[in-house]
Amino acid sequence: MKPNNPFPVVGYHGPDMFCDREKETERLSKNLMGGLNITLISLRRMGKTALIHHVFNEISSKKQSVCLYIDLYPTRSIKDLTRQLATASMNVLPRKKRTGNRFLSFLKGLRPVITYDPLTGAPGVRFEYSDVAEYEVTLAALLKFLGEMGTDVYLAFDEFQVISSYEDGNAEAMLRTMIQPLTNIHFIFSGSNRHMMNEIFHSTKRPFFASTRIMSLPVISTESYSRFIAEKFAENKRKISPEAIAFVLEWTRRHTYYTQSVCNTLFSYGGREIDIQSARAICGEILEEQEKTFLQYRHLLTVNQWQVLMAVAKEGKVYRAQSGEFLSRYSLGTPAGTKRAIDALLAKEMIYEESDSTGTYNSVYDLFLSRWLERQ
Ligand SMILES: Nc1ncnc2c1ncn2[C@@H]1O[C@H](COP(=O)(O)OP(=O)(O)OP(=O)(O)O)[C@@H](O)[C@H]1O
Ligand SMILES: [Mg+2]
Repeated sequence: MKPNNPFPVVGYHGPDMFCDREKETERLSKNLMGGLNITLISLRRMGKTALIHHVFNEISSKKQSVCLYIDLYPTRSIKDLTRQLATASMNVLPRKKRTGNRFLSFLKGLRPVITYDPLTGAPGVRFEYSDVAEYEVTLAALLKFLGEMGTDVYLAFDEFQVISSYEDGNAEAMLRTMIQPLTNIHFIFSGSNRHMMNEIFHSTKRPFFASTRIMSLPVISTESYSRFIAEKFAENKRKISPEAIAFVLEWTRRHTYYTQSVCNTLFSYGGREIDIQSARAICGEILEEQEKTFLQYRHLLTVNQWQVLMAVAKEGKVYRAQSGEFLSRYSLGTPAGTKRAIDALLAKEMIYEESDSTGTYNSVYDLFLSRWLERQ
């Protein structure tokens, strides 16, 4: 179903509503088709999941292939992963002429329990084995089946970092062993926790060490995003001034979800012609709407953590959180106490760590929260 706002904030809605990412799309599809597996890393809400769907859309329009998307976020074990893979396969494969029936009779042999999503009605698969080892066997069999279908298979594991905390313990090694021989399956491993993703793919001690090409997803360029926003308004016979667009891109720091979200609201409430004043006003309203939630965060943090969070927000990017200058500007107490607060805020994903040409810095993760804190 096409949304009636050209700036959707959930899901992927086809190339028309997708801004740029041309270079990334080309690199991802070329590398995958060329036989490289890819690790995709970025901040939360930057557009990894949307990019995966966009790339799958590209690939399947060009060649006969099977594209499977699996979100590992809700999974806790190999058992859950097996269920997700079987469900994704069942929703995609039976539609394929050549392999559909073969897949269904293969699946029957695995003693599946068919389920239906109470909300969407979409079919799913569950297995009820008494021995946990059977899930591992089934997962291997499913992957082997996919690998031997005679069609190229593209398989995305989104939120892949989750597998390092599976109950099974050795899930990473198990999965690595299973997928290594599968040359017809092209994998995307995507995740937002840079620290955990780096551990999985960069640590010499880990099974996935150096097994993939790493790609990170930066912000979309100001030029592309400006053009895209102007176009979408124009297509709907609406006007937005170049100054208003520049303001939105700067205010949201081009962090995709937040830019989309502000544009979505501007489109819904902004009147026929949007200038910089109305853009500013709408951004203020968005912050007011969320104020109650932001105030609750305060109770979840210590006084020190809250003060450091506010200082990081006011600063925008903090390169040296323990420097005397930063501490005294925001009256923050000791370097050690501030370091502890920064570590705690990182662990809670209230702030993130990134690098640019100047160095490594911290910023508040939720852009709206950051902009709200700045005003306090
Ligand atoms: N290129 C794009 N053009 C337009 N909208 C986009 C684009 N990329 C992402 N979006 C939108 O931005 C929002 C965030 O994107 P997405 O969910 O893909 O991010 P993510 O990196 O997967 O985040 P998370 O780590 O939280 O899963 C979504 O609403 C999506 O529709
Ligand atoms: Mg995602």
